[in-house]
Amino acid sequence: MSVLDDPDALRAADPSGMLDSVGASADDCETGYTAGLAAGGLPVTGDLTGVTFLGMGGSAVAGDLTRALFRQRLGVPLDVVRSPELPEHCETRSLVVATSYSGDTAETLAAFEEAVERGCRIVAVTSGGRLARRAAEEGIPVVSIPGGMQPRAALGHLAFTTLGALEAAGVLPRLGGEVRETVGLLRALAAELGPEKQGNRAMRLAERIGDRYAVIWGTEGIGSVAAMRWKTQINENAKRPAWWASMSELDHNEIVGWVDGAGADHFLVTLRHDGEAPSIAPRFPLSVDLVAASGLHHEEVQAVGDSALARACSLILMGDFVSVYLGLLRRVDPTPVEVIDRLKKALG
Ligand code: PA5
Repeated sequence: MSVLDDPDALRAADPSGMLDSVGASADDCETGYTAGLAAGGLPVTGDLTGVTFLGMGGSAVAGDLTRALFRQRLGVPLDVVRSPELPEHCETRSLVVATSYSGDTAETLAAFEEAVERGCRIVAVTSGGRLARRAAEEGIPVVSIPGGMQPRAALGHLAFTTLGALEAAGVLPRLGGEVRETVGLLRALAAELGPEKQGNRAMRLAERIGDRYAVIWGTEGIGSVAAMRWKTQINENAKRPAWWASMSELDHNEIVGWVDGAGADHFLVTLRHDGEAPSIAPRFPLSVDLVAASGLHHEEVQAVGDSALARACSLILMGDFVSVYLGLLRRVDPTPVEVIDRLKKALG
């Protein structure tokens, strides 16, 4: 019998409660959106030239998601910066959203300081740390999120606080309908995929992946954001290498590498949704066929929901559960990320 077939054994193997955190995503999104909408003192945005998100790792996903959802719909460019260097184009009419769960991430803090120096309009999204302190000193609005979580487990707070605050600032349109749909859907999915539902499809996919290395493909846009999130969640929750690629860029390089035998110890997951561009969607079956001779195992995951927000979040939640189940199958505690902690300490 697998550990996944016994809810008590599952809980015992997850002492810090990563499964509970994943299961609480709907509540986090709801709370985060309300908190973001209520944010006060936000910068004037009528004449913005662009929006730049600063963040690393789990905290950068909030910007990725916002960018994927809105870059086709806003009149200004959206940019996600994972670097201490602020792009040259950021100036006094740029909105800079500095997102760091801990508030102590070196790259984010360095780019934030540069944004302060250049007189950018800034909002900080954080649970505290140096970012909160520096923002307070500079009179910059801080949208606070609850502390005590792993940054990657706080995605609901980070992303939906950001969406709410940007709506309140007049940058994004009203999102209430999409948020309600997403929250309802995430609640239903958490009940379907959670530890109490033995043999659910997230558990079965984790078992199929097993000791193979996961390769995740998603379409440019929300599919790619979800694919990257699957990859990083498998890294951190399952303590396993994993890879992701974006369709259709991968058709111009990656498919060439899947030659005979190369895929035998890999498992391809394709993330699909109904909003894919009609010129891109047919590439999936063709590309999967082309790489099949490499021995690559494959399973497709289809998003649910009507809005792009709900679809993206449904793919992300499925990946979050799969990554935790993979970790538990491998007998690792999903929560701690000692290597990241050691590196941060070494860097001071
Ligand atoms: O998952 C993690 O712990 C990391 O990817 C962090 O999110 C990353 O190191 C950045 O830290 P923070 O989110 O606190 O800014």
